[in-house]
Amino acid sequence: MPLLEIEDLMVTFTTADGDVHAVNGLSFNIDKGETLAIVGESGSGKSQTAFAAMGLLAKNGRATGVARFDGQDLLKLSQREFNKIRSNDMAMIFQDPMTSLNPYLRVSEQMAEVLMLHNGVSKSQAITESVRMLDAVRIPDARARITMYPHEFSGGMRQRIMIAMSLLCQPRLLIADEPTTALDVTVQAQIMQLLGDIRKDFGTAVILITHDLGVVAGFCDRTLVMYGGQIMEEGTTDDIFAKPSHPYTSGLLKAVPRLDKDEGALMTIAGEPPDMSNLPSGCPFSPRCPVKLDQCHAQRPPLEKIGNRRRACHLPASEVA
Ligand SMILES: Nc1ncnc2c1ncn2[C@@H]1O[C@H](COP(=O)(O)OP(=O)(O)O)[C@@H](O)[C@H]1O
Ligand SMILES: [Mg+2]
Repeated sequence: MPLLEIEDLMVTFTTADGDVHAVNGLSFNIDKGETLAIVGESGSGKSQTAFAAMGLLAKNGRATGVARFDGQDLLKLSQREFNKIRSNDMAMIFQDPMTSLNPYLRVSEQMAEVLMLHNGVSKSQAITESVRMLDAVRIPDARARITMYPHEFSGGMRQRIMIAMSLLCQPRLLIADEPTTALDVTVQAQIMQLLGDIRKDFGTAVILITHDLGVVAGFCDRTLVMYGGQIMEEGTTDDIFAKPSHPYTSGLLKAVPRLDKDEGALMTIAGEPPDMSNLPSGCPFSPRCPVKLDQCHAQRPPLEKIGNRRRACHLPASEVA
């Protein structure tokens, strides 16, 4: 049984200007200990997919479909039940660590509180465990520095602290939403390395959400490419990089700097992301697709399984360059 099973997930927001269709019939699985990347440009519905599964949608949003965690449908839970799952089984980290860290409390207080609440341990036990976790995320001199305030750490170190906090209750699933986007390239690589180690050391399944296809190589087992709240394609990360089967993925790949190819200037995908309150009736990418066919505007391509890939495109996979 997969750890998390998403089936036909829809997320819709009610606004004064009409309904915003942020996620439109998304289905995917993640197994225990697996890493899955969800990739797409800003606005493609990545964060709302995670928020729906975590019970964190904004008040004007509603989710339909199924999101089964360990067999239990998350979309049917009350807030109270969600709180329990969020502290025991699933954790989420964000681009800005200060979303999760309290600037007015010492790191020791914040971390210990989580453990005291969750495990009912004494404060000194909680501090010992917190130091161990800070060591695990390679905060140098953790025992001394745990009494510092979040602003006394660099951005990369704050991100490590947030990861340590999210792991305190040993979640089986960690959702990392653009965890490296605000960091410089060297620190980005260190954080990705750390997430990789965590997966090995703790067996935690990780969903990595990013707009940057470049960061998933070498880290994620599988990659799911989203556009307009839908799956464009999904496959092993190796396959996606070696041979994209969707023109949108090709576009994203051409925007990734690669050491193994000297391609000169990087390409960006021309055109604007879709208006989520007024999606085209056919393929959402068709207005920007450089190789679209006549039928692409009229008919939404079905998501088809070919080997160990899924893709939604009218163009034969062999013709995607
Ligand atoms: N509370 C809200 N009300 C209306 N629209 C929203 C709300 N939250 C998010 N959206 C819209 O949902 C769409 C998907 O957003 P999101 O999942 O955050 O994108 P991303 O892929 O960048 O994470 C966007 O068009 C965004 O404007
Ligand atoms: Mg987002």
